[in-house]
Amino acid sequence: MTTFYRLLGFLRPYKGGLIASLILASAAMVMTVAIPYLTGLAVDALQTGARHARAHELALRNHDRHTLLVLALVIVGVVLIRWALTYLRRIIAGRVSLGIEYDLRGLLYGHLQRLELGFFDHQQTGQLMSRATVDLQAVRFFLGYGLVFILQSALTLVLAGIAMIVINPGLGLIAMLPVPFVVVISQRYGRRARPAIQEVQQRIAELTANAEENISGVRVVKSFAREPLQLKRFRHSVSRVFDQAMVSTRLEARYNPMIGFLPQLGLAAVLLIGGVSVIHGHLSLGQFSAFFLYLNMLIVPMRSLGVTLGLAQRATASGARIFQVLDRAPRLTSPPGAPPLPPGGGHIEFRGVTLRYEDPDEFGAAYSRTREGEAIRASETAQGGRPDSPAPVADAESAGTAAPPAPPPPASSREPRRARAVLRDIDLDVPAGRTIALVGATGSGKTSLVSLISRLYDPTAGRVLLDGVDVQSVNLRSLRQSVAVVSDDPFLFSASIAENIAYARPGASLAEVEEAARRAQAHEFIARLPQGFQTQVGERGLTLSGGQRQRLAIARALLADPRALILDDATSSVDSSTERLIKRALDEAMVGRTTLIIAHRLSTIALADEIVVLDHGRVIARGDHSQLLETSPLYREIVAKGLPEQVFLTRAPREREVSGL
Ligand SMILES: Nc1ncnc2c1ncn2[C@@H]1O[C@H](COP(=O)(O)OP(=O)(O)OP(=O)(O)O)[C@@H](O)[C@H]1O
Ligand SMILES: [Mg+2]
Repeated sequence: MTTFYRLLGFLRPYKGGLIASLILASAAMVMTVAIPYLTGLAVDALQTGARHARAHELALRNHDRHTLLVLALVIVGVVLIRWALTYLRRIIAGRVSLGIEYDLRGLLYGHLQRLELGFFDHQQTGQLMSRATVDLQAVRFFLGYGLVFILQSALTLVLAGIAMIVINPGLGLIAMLPVPFVVVISQRYGRRARPAIQEVQQRIAELTANAEENISGVRVVKSFAREPLQLKRFRHSVSRVFDQAMVSTRLEARYNPMIGFLPQLGLAAVLLIGGVSVIHGHLSLGQFSAFFLYLNMLIVPMRSLGVTLGLAQRATASGARIFQVLDRAPRLTSPPGAPPLPPGGGHIEFRGVTLRYEDPDEFGAAYSRTREGEAIRASETAQGGRPDSPAPVADAESAGTAAPPAPPPPASSREPRRARAVLRDIDLDVPAGRTIALVGATGSGKTSLVSLISRLYDPTAGRVLLDGVDVQSVNLRSLRQSVAVVSDDPFLFSASIAENIAYARPGASLAEVEEAARRAQAHEFIARLPQGFQTQVGERGLTLSGGQRQRLAIARALLADPRALILDDATSSVDSSTERLIKRALDEAMVGRTTLIIAHRLSTIALADEIVVLDHGRVIARGDHSQLLETSPLYREIVAKGLPEQVFLTRAPREREVSGL
């Protein structure tokens, strides 16, 4: 229920529109209620007219005919006014609904942007996407239309009820008798439907996540010819949605007709009792007609009550899922009013730094992934899961309980043990302007270490300082503008090459972009592309090779002109001639700033003034090449055997690289 009230909060900016649409709806209702009354009068007029005609009282008969004509015209007028009111109301309600959608999208997306990287590490993209689309739609549809519809239905009930009681209190009460039952049944329905619908939404999210993974992982899928498996998994997800949607459909099928059926009983009772009253002359035929029409008016809102309540349940279920995201507070922020990073040359210090990545938190995806994994295993043993086999969830409903929201897995058995520290007690001082190479086996914590500088993560203990100030104490934006990271797998947006490079500094002129590209040794290959700098790349454009992307990323970093430059694995995926180009680019890039290079190749290591060796999250040695050859057995081993990656990635003979050192 609190979710529901919170959802209503989104209506606040639209109070005006909402009130207007309520007033319009009420006015339209008054018109609607007037019609049976006018019809009743007309029936009476035609009945007396017929009597007068039989008695050959022509003057009176003409008067009745005139009355009938006037009444017919009034009814036409009333209908036209109602049409105009409804038209206006729909326009206004549409504005409210779309406005809410607009606001919610902004809010959700804005919030996602504020969440730290660690949050996204544990999320499936599809899960978040489905909250931003499917769930959002459900909320806006209900707030924009459903709510007014419910209020309108309630108003119809009240107005028609009053009208009936005014016409004939006894008969009115009989007609209204089903109402309390309908309310009780609707409530019951609501209580049972919500968890079922929430589960449907959750499974749709899983399905979206599944589809998203299938598509973005298509390269792996195809290279291992695993399409059948993927299809099977996808079908499994689809059938999970199907099963659960059937649960809620069954609930709906059980309750909805019941809600519609009760008022029909009232109708029959009124037909009988009211008819007898007419025969006995206690009630005029006109009154009876009006009464009957009022009763009919009740049927539609009552029958659609189930549907509208369904909408409300869906909106609440979806709202809960949206609030789950909105309530997840960002854990990595700068203190309010934090000063910008003071100017400096890029002196980096790590003091007693320990890093433990956070466990996946209570929020969604981790649990759904586990459940999905389990379900797939289950379905594989049971020879595939398509709907005809009664799914366990469907049983839950027939056993009399709607599928409960799936419980999170028991913490003890599922939760990974508390994450171990990936960096331990690191003390490292990198003077401004120096170039340091970080080497170490895979998983030794190199990427983790450098990601602390621009605060992609915060250390669990210890401090990271940039130019003498704790990075956690300064404005995050200014910090990140001062540190550029070239990752080993650079991401390109669906945009032109020029836009992708200028991403680091959107105001940059084309000349500056070209200059950065030239310094990153990317100019030549860009010139050979069909539209040069305007060539579209990324998901909807040309696909670039790994080495090309890396050089674009270096150009991007150069354009940002940071005081600290971090190059992660930047030469891992290129051949030796490209590597030479990249080396030149790096040489260029390093001038006048502090650079940390995570190096897998000796030729890259050679660019550095100093080498730091990392092992299992600790700094175990530091020095230049010849010093380390003497002091560090691990470094000697690295030089002798090559880093594990080198075995795969280096195509040029090792001897040449070593001699080039
Ligand atoms: N976002 C993350 N969440 C949880 N654990 C992580 C995360 N990133 C890395 N780890 C873990 O931290 C450890 C160090 O990873 P890191 O990426 O820093 O290694 P690396 O030295 O850069 O390795 P490589 O040379 O393969 O790139 C690994 O055991 C890894 O599993
Ligand atoms: Mg790494």
